Amino acid sequence: MAENFSDYQIGIYINGMFLGQTPDITTDLLSLESKAAEVLGAEELGYIVPSAGSGRTARANVAAFERWRIVPRMFRDHAVRDHSTTILGTTMPAPVLFCPVGVQQLAHPDGELATARAAQALGLTFVHSTQATRSIEEVAEANGDGSRWYQLYWPTDDELCISFLERAKAAGYTHLVITLDTTMLGWRPADLDRGYLPFLQSVGIANYTSDPVFTRRLEKSPEEDPAAAGIAFAGVFPNPGLSWDQLPFIRDHWDGPIILKGIQSVEDARLAVEHGIEGIVVSNHGGRQVDGAVASLDVLPHIAEAVGDQLTILFDSGIRTGSDVVKAIALGADAVCIGRPYLYGLALGGQAGVEHVMKSLLAEMDLTVGNSGYSSVHELTRSSLVRAD
Ligand SMILES: Cc1cc2nc3c(=O)[nH]c(=O)nc-3n(C[C@H](O)[C@H](O)[C@H](O)COP(=O)(O)O)c2cc1C
Repeated sequence: MAENFSDYQIGIYINGMFLGQTPDITTDLLSLESKAAEVLGAEELGYIVPSAGSGRTARANVAAFERWRIVPRMFRDHAVRDHSTTILGTTMPAPVLFCPVGVQQLAHPDGELATARAAQALGLTFVHSTQATRSIEEVAEANGDGSRWYQLYWPTDDELCISFLERAKAAGYTHLVITLDTTMLGWRPADLDRGYLPFLQSVGIANYTSDPVFTRRLEKSPEEDPAAAGIAFAGVFPNPGLSWDQLPFIRDHWDGPIILKGIQSVEDARLAVEHGIEGIVVSNHGGRQVDGAVASLDVLPHIAEAVGDQLTILFDSGIRTGSDVVKAIALGADAVCIGRPYLYGLALGGQAGVEHVMKSLLAEMDLTVGNSGYSSVHELTRSSLVRAD
């Protein structure tokens, strides 16, 4: 049976009217960032919220959604709505996944464990970042029988890379997301001005410090000498030498579907098809890498038109509300990944905060679809929208 996401709205009203209870965290998804800013320290906030350079691309990502408007249709039965889908063999109640996000302990002490538990409770797919504050195995345990994919930052050390892939497979991660847009960190003034990079103090490198290949190369254990572990990480992380011809190496060590994250051009999307890749994430890393880069939503329709029938297209960068999800699906995404909004939920309320944000977003998506006269988000196409510029 399809999940009725809008029940979350009714529940809030019932709690308010009969029990005098209001939500602990706002339902106004656009104000989550300012609410999170009230509880986070300057360094944590500086890592999570700002983007590369002037922040223009991050702002453009959000602004791009403003230029598309839904044209609601009337008198069309939408009493029963079903948004479920199957993405590369993974079934989901709605076309919504958790973006891979590193260093989640900056938002909340439970970090990735809270998010992985929330994902399992909601039946949504969790994508575990290579830059996490909890290891592949710890997160798998927290996620239990939930659906989980692994995101790879492809290190320069082949043996370490193979070890990450083998551990992910053994811990039940079914799909591999390779992030291509961060072979080097972007220019991030908010962190630079504070001289702040958590990884160098061994925060956000739990997958490395729990890895037998990585630790074998250290003179002292990461607990004894966290700074040396941080420096060793800095030695294997930047990998600007990566190119398409190295993909067979990953194929040799990963049996499941491969998804390339960070695609922003039709040319690269076509190359992904030529290399037999199963999926892409149209993403610019939330504007954290190339300042001045095109808004991710602005390239989505072109990529979808060119290769949408040849591979699976996921989308992220700039999704803030349920109606944003609807627009991205209408413009050709098979599913979308949510990033900063759930981090703000994590900051504001741990696992419960993540669940609240995702339930609010899904309820708003469901109500937007129904009130626009559709029975599934998947029914909307580009012709369901108009450009407003
Ligand atoms: C604090 C933070 C950490 C991130 N860490 C990773 C990461 O480890 N791996 C990755 O592929 N993407 C990472 N991303 C990018 C997200 O996966 C996603 O592309 C981005 O958040 C989408 O933009 P939005 O949050 O503005 O919608 C990170 C994003 C943020 C905000």
